[in-house]
Amino acid sequence: MLAIIGGSGAYDLSILDVCNKRVIRTPYGSPSDPVITGVMGGGEVLFLPRHGLSHKIPPHAINFRANIWALQECSATEIIALNAVGAINSRLVPPDLALPDQVLDYTWGRKHTFFDGNSGIVRHIDFTNPYSVDLRARIEDAATSLGLDCFTNCIYAATQGPRLESAAEINRLERDGADIVGMTGMPEAALARELGIPYASLCVVANMAAGRGEGEITLEEIERNLVGGIDNAFRVIEKSVTL
Ligand code: HPA
Repeated sequence: MLAIIGGSGAYDLSILDVCNKRVIRTPYGSPSDPVITGVMGGGEVLFLPRHGLSHKIPPHAINFRANIWALQECSATEIIALNAVGAINSRLVPPDLALPDQVLDYTWGRKHTFFDGNSGIVRHIDFTNPYSVDLRARIEDAATSLGLDCFTNCIYAATQGPRLESAAEINRLERDGADIVGMTGMPEAALARELGIPYASLCVVANMAAGRGEGEITLEEIERNLVGGIDNAFRVIEKSVTL
């Protein structure tokens, strides 16, 4: 079953016929919220809001391990993650959609692996392609069939948050090759890979990254841009369910 991990702004579930909510306990603690089962595009899907439905959990405090474990517990066979991002590459403007194929991880201090030595198992997953090639292709096809532009083959930089970046930090990320920046892409993608669940991230550009737009970044601007962008992202996911 497809699971959707909702990010900032993805709280309007009117696109989903909600069937039930399950409170899941995991060996790693509680996930961000009960896991919702619902129907979207004629198919059954799972939904989990990464920050909690009332957006109370900041990026660095999300229990990513419990979230991914809970989705597996609920029979997730693939995951589409929604992520709000800032645009570093000037070819992107809010509220564009982006479908990264690579990631740069600048996060620290997060519980980032199921193989932390406590289970007695040492495992080194392959992460050459952090996102599922097949799932990305399906999302791209869905966007194309809806006539929506989706910026593909781009690099997502995962930063620690909860503050936004300085202009100099964005310059560094650009030198590193990053096109978009967000706070929640890692370790989520790696944890899904550790459990063998195909995973892709569909990003909504909420703002131009620090130093790339005019003036400072405001929360109002981010929230305003996310409204239309998330709506398009849900349409793409709904379509991808039928492909
Ligand atoms: N930086 C990091 N995370 C973000 C941004 C940003 O500019 N916009 C939305 N999430």
